[in-house]
Amino acid sequence: MSEFTLTTPSQEPGYQTAMEVVFQWNYDPELEELRNLYVKAAEAQWISERDLRWDQQIDLVKFSTTPLGTGVPIDQTSYWKSLPQDTRSELTRRTAAFRLSQFLHGEQGALMVAAQLVNAVPHTDAKFYAATQTMDEARHVEVFARYIEKLDEIRPIAPSLKGILDQTLQTSDWMKKLVGMQIVVEGLALYAFREMRNMTEEPLLKELLTYVARDESRHHAYGVQYIERCVPCLSPSARAELEDFALECARSLIDRNAQGLFTTLLQIWAEVGVDPAAMFQSLHDERDEILRDAPPKKRLGPVQGFVLPTLKRCGLFSERVATHFHGFFRENFGDRVAGANVQDFMQHLPDLPADTARWVMGEIQ
Ligand SMILES: [Fe+2]
Ligand SMILES: [Fe+2]
Repeated sequence: MSEFTLTTPSQEPGYQTAMEVVFQWNYDPELEELRNLYVKAAEAQWISERDLRWDQQIDLVKFSTTPLGTGVPIDQTSYWKSLPQDTRSELTRRTAAFRLSQFLHGEQGALMVAAQLVNAVPHTDAKFYAATQTMDEARHVEVFARYIEKLDEIRPIAPSLKGILDQTLQTSDWMKKLVGMQIVVEGLALYAFREMRNMTEEPLLKELLTYVARDESRHHAYGVQYIERCVPCLSPSARAELEDFALECARSLIDRNAQGLFTTLLQIWAEVGVDPAAMFQSLHDERDEILRDAPPKKRLGPVQGFVLPTLKRCGLFSERVATHFHGFFRENFGDRVAGANVQDFMQHLPDLPADTARWVMGEIQ
């Protein structure tokens, strides 16, 4: 063990955050649904050391079923299929370590925001719930770090994710913290955990994501159930400000240029000897064929498929803010994804799943 010191070389310089701390003298249940969620969370606590089988070796053959998360079907190109199995496995392993590292750093952000919420939210039930979430997030940080170290190495946080975490931690407005973390960041995380959990056949990763995703579906429920009670109490200008905050957070994740994610993925490809130009050429040449074989119902991405429906459910998706979202989607993905106009865009937004906990386990669509 290294020597104990007050500052460590791996820590970042601290920054100031603005947060109002609120005492609440009414201890009786007031928001029944949040009190129930708190009890559910207490009952669902699990222990990494006891409940996950860490002595299992990571099965690298099964691991190659883990989705790459590039958003484009590169694994269906003839170039990909022509790569040696070892190269494909190595690419999957390193890409997954990068994605899991983003989950890990996001979990650390969630841990700190949840702890802030204990102080800042004004209702007792909401403080209780945030306390259980804080415990959950600590466990998530623990298990992701442990898994990545078993798999490969922890990679640095993507600047776009760090930006959202900073903004959410720094704001003085607890409702913005809820929207930034519980709705935007956790909405995206839930979507990504669901995809990875349901597709990977690597047993330890699947087990780990099952536990984590169950917790996350409660965290998302907390955000939705609390915010939808709060929004009707806001003035039109306060509501618009909250919508704009959600827009800012989601926008930095939609904006491909700002992400830096793609650059990192290309670096990983280069590391293992994959030629990006050849891969894209193959994708370009075989596009029609790949699209023809794709399932007829196009799956929406995490923002359109989950985050925006959540905002809509919470009363934070007015036509005004939808117009901005539509503009960004058009710029980044074109008309085919965004729809021709904002009415079209709003109309094609799916509803939230009836039961998020079952949806995340792939039991319902
Ligand atoms: Fe988490
Ligand atoms: Fe969470």
